[in-house]
Amino acid sequence: MLLSLPLLACAAVRLALAFPQPAKLTKDIEHDPSVVKTPDGTYILVGTGKAIPTFASTDRLSWTKVGDAFPDGAPEAALALAGNKDVWAPDISFVNDIYILYYSTSTFGTQKSAIWLATSPTGLPGSWTDKDKVLESKEGDPYNAIDAHLFVSSNGSRHLVWGSYWSGIFLGNVDAKTGLLTSDEFVNLAARPGAGVIEAPWLYERDGVFYLFTSWDQCCEGTKSTYHMRVATSRSLVGPYLDSHGKAALEGHMTLLMDSHDDVYGPGGQSLLDDDDGVLLVYHRYFGTGSTGLLSLNVLDF
Ligand SMILES: *[C@@H]1O[C@H](CO)[C@@H](O)[C@H](O)[C@H]1NC(C)=O
Repeated sequence: MLLSLPLLACAAVRLALAFPQPAKLTKDIEHDPSVVKTPDGTYILVGTGKAIPTFASTDRLSWTKVGDAFPDGAPEAALALAGNKDVWAPDISFVNDIYILYYSTSTFGTQKSAIWLATSPTGLPGSWTDKDKVLESKEGDPYNAIDAHLFVSSNGSRHLVWGSYWSGIFLGNVDAKTGLLTSDEFVNLAARPGAGVIEAPWLYERDGVFYLFTSWDQCCEGTKSTYHMRVATSRSLVGPYLDSHGKAALEGHMTLLMDSHDDVYGPGGQSLLDDDDGVLLVYHRYFGTGSTGLLSLNVLDF
């Protein structure tokens, strides 16, 4: 499948995504995978789960569970907000020799949610120091404080993008020293006014173009999942993000990246991994009749 995303008349940008059948990897993985590569070449993957299940791999194909990020349970305040249930969509990065983890908890079915931060020298289970709450949301806020992703721009500036299930995707600036938001002035990047789920944002910058990836519709219902991935691009971090027809992401227009196809169902919860051999799209999907979210990786061809 080929997607072309002409942006501006003067500079057409093409995003070509090849998706052969994703290889069925050797390990069932939780939803919303996020991967980081360590300096020694090992990959560390985290996903949704009560104490943030953590997996390691040396080849990206075979994964071994190495433990939970929080072996004694997630920090109390975060767990309390989740009613002792899952911690959602952890986002792991490695910046300036420190592993950084943003994750969210939510009172299920409400906008009572928060994004939390932890840091670590190794990224491994039991090594994380709780750095407390980054952002919270309540009924009536324009966003839902879930699905955070730390974006580091080409000049090193740091930003958090998050949201939202019901409402839109938002962007804020991050203080490099503390990992916290510098102000409560946020930019709305994408939304689906009056219609459907949009969440799991991920930002990627390449050759002066910003790519905003999101997941739409219903996650986590096995082969009934309608989850799928969409992308929009902008020449500016703060937007406007446009689909391949030049329509605004803020008005609910983003280009389809991958939907259910063949025996792959509900692909989404994506993240990107910049690796030596390319940029990888990392996501979960259901496979055939299985009800477990399975890890998938595809190389993105820009
Ligand atoms: C760094 O890049 C970001 C993203 O494009 C931009 O918002 C910010 O203004 C830039 N900062 C500087 C100092 O150029």
